Amino acid sequence: MAQLSGSADVPDMGRRQFMNLLTFGTVTGTVLGGLYPVVKYFIPPSSGGSGGGITAKDAQGNDIIVSQFVAGRSKGDRALAQGLKGDPTYIVVEGDQAIAKYGINAVCTHLGCVVPWNASENRFRCPCHGSQYDTTGKVTRGPAPLSLALAHATVTEDDKVVFTPWTETDFRTGEDPWWA
Ligand code: FES
Repeated sequence: MAQLSGSADVPDMGRRQFMNLLTFGTVTGTVLGGLYPVVKYFIPPSSGGSGGGITAKDAQGNDIIVSQFVAGRSKGDRALAQGLKGDPTYIVVEGDQAIAKYGINAVCTHLGCVVPWNASENRFRCPCHGSQYDTTGKVTRGPAPLSLALAHATVTEDDKVVFTPWTETDFRTGEDPWWA
């Protein structure tokens, strides 16, 4: 029952006009796509009630307190927390009292080993079969087929971190998230 009448209009449209339309659509999509994470950043994840967020916890199961968490760490550190679905997830320390607005799922996309952060090499390196990921978790060497999954990381008013599912474009690849 699909109505395909729209496609019949295309041949009538001048090719240049059609290409202009495509270009405009692409540019508009890119601009809007770029704005979307910014807009999302300013919307508290708890406001919708359907975000599926979880408070980041340390290895003992206690809520992570951001000010304490960053106090003993330096800029560029990546430290593990319990994230969505209990997955080990890195919090990225970006400076004084600041963490990145994304967390990096530590589960290797090859066969599921937890990937350690190697500070001296400034990359993640999986001990199981040698896969490597850059500072943002983007895969740079196989056999891992995909980059590490992302989650939003938001600091709450009571100084905790809430992870929420990342369903938008993967900013490292410009593609849809494979994990969503
Ligand atoms: Fe990480 Fe195989 S599980 S490289």
